[in-house]
Amino acid sequence: MSTMATTVPHLKTSLPGPKAKALIERDARVVSPSYTREYPLVVARGEGAAVEDVDGNVFLDCTAGIAVAATGHSHPDVVRAIVEQARKFLHMSGTDFYYEPQVRLGEELSAIAPMPGPHRSFFGNSGTEANEAALKLAKYATKRHGIIAFFGAFHGRSMGSLSLTASKLTQRKGFGPFVPGSYHAPYPDCYRCPVGSTPETCAAECLGFIEQQLFVHLVSPDEVAAVMVEPIQGEGGYVVAPDVFLRRLRELTARYGILLIADEVQSGMGRTGRWYAIEHAGVEPDIVTMAKGIASGMPLGVATAPSSVMAWPPGTHASTFGGNPVSCAAALATIRLLRDGLMRNAETVGAHMMAGAKALMERHPLCGDGRGRGLMIGIELVRDRATKERATSERDALVKECFTRGLLVLGAGRNAIRLSPPLVLTREQANTAIEILDQALAAVTPRA
Ligand SMILES: Cc1ncc(COP(=O)(O)O)c(C=O)c1O
Repeated sequence: MSTMATTVPHLKTSLPGPKAKALIERDARVVSPSYTREYPLVVARGEGAAVEDVDGNVFLDCTAGIAVAATGHSHPDVVRAIVEQARKFLHMSGTDFYYEPQVRLGEELSAIAPMPGPHRSFFGNSGTEANEAALKLAKYATKRHGIIAFFGAFHGRSMGSLSLTASKLTQRKGFGPFVPGSYHAPYPDCYRCPVGSTPETCAAECLGFIEQQLFVHLVSPDEVAAVMVEPIQGEGGYVVAPDVFLRRLRELTARYGILLIADEVQSGMGRTGRWYAIEHAGVEPDIVTMAKGIASGMPLGVATAPSSVMAWPPGTHASTFGGNPVSCAAALATIRLLRDGLMRNAETVGAHMMAGAKALMERHPLCGDGRGRGLMIGIELVRDRATKERATSERDALVKECFTRGLLVLGAGRNAIRLSPPLVLTREQANTAIEILDQALAAVTPRA
């Protein structure tokens, strides 16, 4: 294991190997078939940005388990914090009793919150729970019921957040009707915006839809509690909202007394080189939600808001497991590591990796767009750069091709891949990832 990081990737068997195959067969008998496994990786161990499978094959991980293992797999500081807390107590329900890790985490989250304090934080176990808390809080605080989200958004799969999720149809089909009062507007995807030659026109078009369509035909603005937005759409394809859009969205929501909720579940906790992606635009949301990277892999979801907004009385919202002390301890260790260098690493290695992604675009016509911030990088594949025809099957093939070459990546949106490695990624590992992508792109490019 100690050699894992230095020999990544290192493949010993054909994939999947015999032990992986056997486990996948057992999985198919007992695990929910609703999960999407893009390739047959069966994990045995992880260290930093390296993952070893059950057959001893070592992969370079540019997924971080869907942007979760922020400090790398099993960072010793995080493991130590988990073990120390586990020895003291595993659970006591922070919604009914008090304990220090939850208080300290609340203090830390207040110190890094993207809006002025004082703040309060609600603790749950996942991204969708963080968003449900934010939605309920917005309704409670404003006494309004409408919520606006964006096409392409992914906010979770429980009914409130699923009502706002508008990414893939399979995520919604069969589960309606959805929560009344959920509305959608176009997201500023400047690469594909029908009018969007500039970020300004793209932003104006999308915000114009809210004011001139939604507010004219569907819902009165004084009935809208909140707008929920991902500053960078994650599941939707790593689409970066232009700063001007976020700034004008802030102005629009403030004008109508609507709360702005930043869903930073994927883009937060240092991944973009700042604590929260919305900071790049200089925008202060009313509520920020986070999960994924916050506890390096332990389950935790949080909604943080100014105390003036989070002013709901006892009993209005709670969770038995939310703010689990072991997860809080992991989050405290994670925040320390991010502050002590990993956030900076995300910025510098991210810039280096982005330059590599741009270089791939020069060599491979299949790469239509490269975008992102820090170590949140998307590459969109197209069959034709002029028509931007989506290269979905080529994308799917690329993800698999990378796996067979020892690189773990995931798809995002209909035809993009996402690079969301642990924030401990080195420049050398970034170079390796780009080299493998280069070869894999060549392998999946249809011959003329
Ligand atoms: C932006 C965003 N919000 C919410 C969620 C839901 O998080 P979870 O799967 O932990 O419920 C995700 C998960 O991918 C996400 O990317």
